[in-house]
Amino acid sequence: MAKDPSMTGEVYYPAPEVVHGAHIPNYDKVHQEALADLPGFWGKIAAENFEWYKPWKQVLDDSNAPFYKWFVDAKTNIIHNALDRHMRTAIRNKAALIFEGEPGDLRIYTYQRLNREVCKFASVLRAMGVRKGDRVTIYMGRIPELMIAMLACAKVGAIHSVVYGGFSTEALLGRIEDSESKLLITCDGAWLRGEIVKLKEIANAAVDRAGTIENVICVKRTGQPVEMVSGRDHWYHEMMALPIASTKAETEVMDAEDPLFILYTSGTTGKPKAILHTHGGYMVGTATTLKWTFDLKPEDVWWCAADPGWITGHSYIVYAPLINGATSIMYEGAPTFPYPDRWWQIVEKYGVTILYTAPTAIRGLMRFGESWPNRYDLSSLRLLGSVGEPINPEAWKWYHRVIGKEKCPVMDTWWQTETGHFMITPLPSVPLKPGSATRAFPGVEVDVVDEEGHSVGPNEEGFLVIKRPWPGMLRTLYRDPDRYVEAYWSRYAEQGWYLPGDSARRDEDGYIWVIGRIDDVIKVSGYRLGTAEIESALVSHPAVAEAAVIGVPDELRGNHINAYCILRQGFEASEKLKHDLKDHVGHEMGPIAKPTEVFIVNSLPKTRSGKIMRRVLRAQALGQDVGDVSTLEDS
Ligand code: WTA
Repeated sequence: MAKDPSMTGEVYYPAPEVVHGAHIPNYDKVHQEALADLPGFWGKIAAENFEWYKPWKQVLDDSNAPFYKWFVDAKTNIIHNALDRHMRTAIRNKAALIFEGEPGDLRIYTYQRLNREVCKFASVLRAMGVRKGDRVTIYMGRIPELMIAMLACAKVGAIHSVVYGGFSTEALLGRIEDSESKLLITCDGAWLRGEIVKLKEIANAAVDRAGTIENVICVKRTGQPVEMVSGRDHWYHEMMALPIASTKAETEVMDAEDPLFILYTSGTTGKPKAILHTHGGYMVGTATTLKWTFDLKPEDVWWCAADPGWITGHSYIVYAPLINGATSIMYEGAPTFPYPDRWWQIVEKYGVTILYTAPTAIRGLMRFGESWPNRYDLSSLRLLGSVGEPINPEAWKWYHRVIGKEKCPVMDTWWQTETGHFMITPLPSVPLKPGSATRAFPGVEVDVVDEEGHSVGPNEEGFLVIKRPWPGMLRTLYRDPDRYVEAYWSRYAEQGWYLPGDSARRDEDGYIWVIGRIDDVIKVSGYRLGTAEIESALVSHPAVAEAAVIGVPDELRGNHINAYCILRQGFEASEKLKHDLKDHVGHEMGPIAKPTEVFIVNSLPKTRSGKIMRRVLRAQALGQDVGDVSTLEDS
C-alpha cells in the first residue's frame, strides 16, 4: 500500500503482499457499499457462505427496535455450519482443534473426530432429557470437552451458559440460579501452573445450594478424588461409553432467532447481565469478522489464546474458526508456566500463523525480555491480534517488533460480549496506528458523540455509539427485556443508537482511540468485572458493613482493584483483617476479583440520594482533583 502523506501521527503501512492476498484489499469501498445497503450487504454474505435449512423472508426486521431480528423466518443451526456441512468435504480430515494440555499432553481432533464426539455427547444430553430451550451451565477448565459440551448443547437446541472456570462459588451459584439450569457440566479439576483448581468442589458447594440442578456431568481431567453425589452426578467418560451415546444424532432445526447461548457479564449496577445470542446472526457475524479481519485462509493455524469461558473464546475459539473450517489451537495453561517461553514454544511447534491475545498477556511476557521469544522460530506468524482493553503503544510496538518481526500487522479489535463479534478493527489492508483500533468493521456505523448526541470534534473525548444494528448483536438480556432497553438504548433513545459504555476519541484521520469504560465496569487483565458483584462479596463478610471498589490504573494488568470498607461495630481494622477480606473475595468471586489494596474507612463519599461516588474515590486514589462534588452528601 502506498503511503498517504496526509495521515497524522505514527502510521504503520501494510506490506503490498499483505494487501494483495487479503480477502478485503479495499476497506473503504466495501465499507461504503455496506453502509449504503446494510441488509443487502449481510444478506449476500449470509447466502454465499452459510447453509440454511430454509431461507429468510427478510434480512433485517427493525420494526420493533431495539428488538431487532436478523434473517427473519430462516432455519439453520450453527452446528450445521460449524460441523455437519464439513463432513461432506475434505475439511472432514483436517485438524479442527489442536489441544496442548498444561502437563504437556496433546490431543488433535479432526473435524470428523470432533463431530463424532459432539454427536455422542448430544445423544447423552438428549437421553438425560435436555431439550430445545433448556439452559445448561458449563463450568470447566480450558479443555476440549468444554468445547464439545458447548457444541453438543447447540446441536440439541439447548442454551448454554458457560461460567468462567476462574470464578468461584457465589458467582457460579448466582449464574445457575438466574438461568434456572437443570444440568451442570463440570470437571474434577483444572490444571493451573502445575496445580489443581478444585472445580468439582466449588461446583458441589454451588449445586448444593442451587435448587434447579437435577444432574451433574463431570469430566475427569486431573484424576484427584472428588465427591460424587449418587443419583445426581455422572462421569462424562462413563456416559460416553454407554449405548445411549449414539454417534447418530440429528442436529435440531432452529429458527435463526432462536437462542444459542447466554453469557453473563458485568454491568453497571446489580447482578450480572445475561447477554443472549442467537443461532443465525451470531453465526454470520462471528465467522465473517474472523475471516476478513484475520484474513483466514485454509492453510492457517489460528490461535486465540483467550479462555472459552468469556466471549472471546465463545466467538473466536469455538464458533467462528469451526464455521470457517480453520485449524485452531487451545492451550490449557498459563503463558509463563513453567517458563515464560511456553507460548513461543507452541507457536514454533504447530507453526501458528495468527496469534490473538490480550494486552495484559503481552505486557506480562514483555517483562521477561526478548531472549525468551528469540529462542524460537516465530517465522510462521503472519498476523497478530489484540483484544480486551486498550493496548498501550509500547506493548503494541514490542508485540509488532519482537513477536511479529515487523512483518505482522497487529489487529487491535474492539468489541464486547454484547456485540458478539469485532466492531472496530483494522483489516490487514488498513494502515495502523499503535494504540488505535482504527476504523469500524465494514457495515458497522460508529461515532463519538457528546451528551446531546452531536459528533465531537477531532481528538475530543466523547461517548462511543453504534448507530445501526449488526447481525451478531445481543438480542436482549435473558428474561429481562426492560433492563436491555435501559442499559443500552435509553441514553440515545430518540436517535435509536446503541451505547456500549466506553469513552473514545476520533483523530483527524477518522481513527478511533478507545479510552475506557464510562461506568462501573472494571477491566482487570482484560477480564470484565462489575463493582457491584465485588462489593456484595465484601459485604457478605461478617466484618463489613459497607464497601466500595474502584479500578486503579495498573501497568501490567490495565487496572487493579482497590476496596474501601466500613466495618461493623465490634470489628477493628488490622492487617490480618485486610488480608482476610482479600481472600474472602477470592473465595466468593474468584482470584481475578481479589482487591490489591483494602482500605478501612469511616465513611464513603455518597450522593444525597445515597449512591456511592466512586469517581471521588478514584480521583483521590490517583491524587487528582475530585471535581464537582456539589451532589456529595457531606463534602
Ligand atoms: C474493552 C471483550 C479498547 C471495552 C471482547 C469494552 C477494548 C469491553 C478493546 C468489553 C480494544 C475490548 N480496545 N478496549 N481493542 N476490546 N475492550 O465484554 O471497554 O469482556 O467495552 O468483551 O472491553 O469487554 P468484554
